[in-house]
Amino acid sequence: MTSSSSHKHDTTRHLLGLEGMPPDRITSLLDLAENYAQLNRSCAAPRDVLRGRTLINLFFEDSTRTRTSFELAGKRLGADIVNMSVSQSSVNKGETLLDTAATLNAMRTDLLVVRHSQSGTPTLLARKVDASVINAGDGLHEHPTQALLDGLTIRRHLGTLESLTVAICGDIAHSRVARSNIHLLTTMGSTVRLIGPPTLVPKTFKQLGVNIYHHMDEGVKGVDVIMMLRLQRERMSTGLVPSAREYFRFWGLDRKRLNLARKNALVMHPGPMNRGIEIESSVADSDQSVIQQQVEMGVAVRMAVLDVLTRNKDTP
Ligand code: CP
Repeated sequence: MTSSSSHKHDTTRHLLGLEGMPPDRITSLLDLAENYAQLNRSCAAPRDVLRGRTLINLFFEDSTRTRTSFELAGKRLGADIVNMSVSQSSVNKGETLLDTAATLNAMRTDLLVVRHSQSGTPTLLARKVDASVINAGDGLHEHPTQALLDGLTIRRHLGTLESLTVAICGDIAHSRVARSNIHLLTTMGSTVRLIGPPTLVPKTFKQLGVNIYHHMDEGVKGVDVIMMLRLQRERMSTGLVPSAREYFRFWGLDRKRLNLARKNALVMHPGPMNRGIEIESSVADSDQSVIQQQVEMGVAVRMAVLDVLTRNKDTP
């Protein structure tokens, strides 16, 4: 564990969230990620950027995209990667989160990528370890690399993140993806519309500078981007929505609703998708869908984040 208080809240050492991140920092991360996206396509990523560095993926919640892409990102830049299997670790014998982190820290880890169901866990760990901590999704709080990859995908297609209208639809209340995207998009000068039933889109979100719609057809009218979200039942204490069929009828994205948006509006989804519940299969697989490109940009964005966070560290 570090004894230095200078490490606390050091935003150049950790990536804990996008709230308060200045626009020029977001832009420079996206520019670097764009560079990595191009290098990835020509299999030309520089393998010496993270040579001698160690990255540990510490995921207390399930993941397909985030965990795999951090592993790929690290490997493409030459890092040594360990994927901790929490279900087979000493956490099961009662070891605390902080003792687990201290143990990994003592192994001279450079980068700790953390996903946890409790909001604030990565921030807590960042105060206690020498490694750079990256938030890979904490409770309802933030999922910063997801919003960065969403931003890069939008910028590649529409050329800008300024003056766009982006609709984020569905289970906003339980979504760390929505929160990080709201911070990124409003910081970059776009307008965000949140669409969903009052149970899933509380009025309190207005404080974040967004517009709220409780009618899907009205909310998607004329938007440049539609971002659909999954119902996060694992974070709901009570049933907040009617049946899946009824949910799709009122809040699902089908072709008719997509046609209300701007011509060629982008369709996005952070995944995992529940086809037929929040999004019609034919829309998810349509020419307007950039869902697979979001996944591709995920590797590039995570390469940029790993690169930037290790620049100020001592040489290994
Ligand atoms: N979007 C996202 O975080 O996906 P995973 O849960 O598969 O990592």
